[in-house]
Amino acid sequence: NHPHVAIVGATGAVGVEMLLCLEQRNFPLSKLKLLASARSAGKKMTFRGEEITVEELTHDSFGDVDIALFSAGGGISLEYGPSAAAAGAVVIDNSSAFRMDADVPLVVPEINPEAAKNRPRGIIANPNCTTIISLMALAPLHAAFGLRSIIASTYQAVSGSGAQGIVELEEQMKAIASDQPFTPKIYPRQIAFNVIPQVDAFTDNGYTKEELKMLNEGRKIMDLPELRVSCTCVRVPVYRSHSVSITAQFERPVDVAAARAAYEGRPGVNVVDDPSAKLFPVPLDTTGKDDCLVGRIRKNLVFDNALDLWVVGDQVRKGAALNAVQIAEIL
Ligand code: A2P
Repeated sequence: NHPHVAIVGATGAVGVEMLLCLEQRNFPLSKLKLLASARSAGKKMTFRGEEITVEELTHDSFGDVDIALFSAGGGISLEYGPSAAAAGAVVIDNSSAFRMDADVPLVVPEINPEAAKNRPRGIIANPNCTTIISLMALAPLHAAFGLRSIIASTYQAVSGSGAQGIVELEEQMKAIASDQPFTPKIYPRQIAFNVIPQVDAFTDNGYTKEELKMLNEGRKIMDLPELRVSCTCVRVPVYRSHSVSITAQFERPVDVAAARAAYEGRPGVNVVDDPSAKLFPVPLDTTGKDDCLVGRIRKNLVFDNALDLWVVGDQVRKGAALNAVQIAEIL
């Protein structure tokens, strides 16, 4: 008997992609329920050639649901996630609401699939998008050399802010092209033709919440409680796919050829790294694709046992929807 699956936030940027991933991967399900706010109730969406009517999310939505994929923001997850779990569904939550809960596993299927088995609250958390993409590049190197610390700068696409991030970039570009005034709404500064060194809210130590996710979630997923991470997260005027520039220090001596070889046979990540042929990954290469791409691998000139690298991945897909659907596949 195939499971009954629900998507909470089905009309959002990640929800739509979840539907697409279930379809493209031929996910074995008996029924798909699409849930969103009252605003979207009655709207029709197509799945495997059939129309499904979006329903309003309520506490009674989960009676016959086996797997509930949540992507409607942290507030909705906190309010409705426990109801879904109490009704017997396994919740796979894309928000940050439960990620650091000791009783909630935080899973990247290529890295720590076994963690998904132990879920006392009936909830499994999907990690932060930038963290997933960075760790897809770092996990094979950890296996080869033993990861000790990460220094990273991110180049994050506007679709990471949901559908409204895309609208804001589009509107600003149009306004600028036609000499019209505009006021930034969701970003603190103009995002068109600019970059903004703030993603998520600032905390007391000067880092943003997004920057601390890489530290805290990275430690939990990799099971490396001593891992040191310092990160600067930057929003860039790219529609889709995040890029991350990483300096990683290791326990053991590193070697570029061995680093490239560490990715061989690893699912979900490929090396695109041939400087002589000007080959390196860019965000447009991974948009709409499953695999993360790694390039610019070189020995760091400052630290011992350290590598510099560049990783790019579709954050709506591997960074969110695909990772959640892969977790459902483990179940
Ligand atoms: P809706 O389209 O009805 O507002 P995004 O991340 O792209 O902004 O999408 C957010 C998703 O979360 C949308 O599917 C949105 O539905 C859904 N959502 C927002 N608020 C609620 C709510 N109060 N109840 C249920 N779903 C919600």
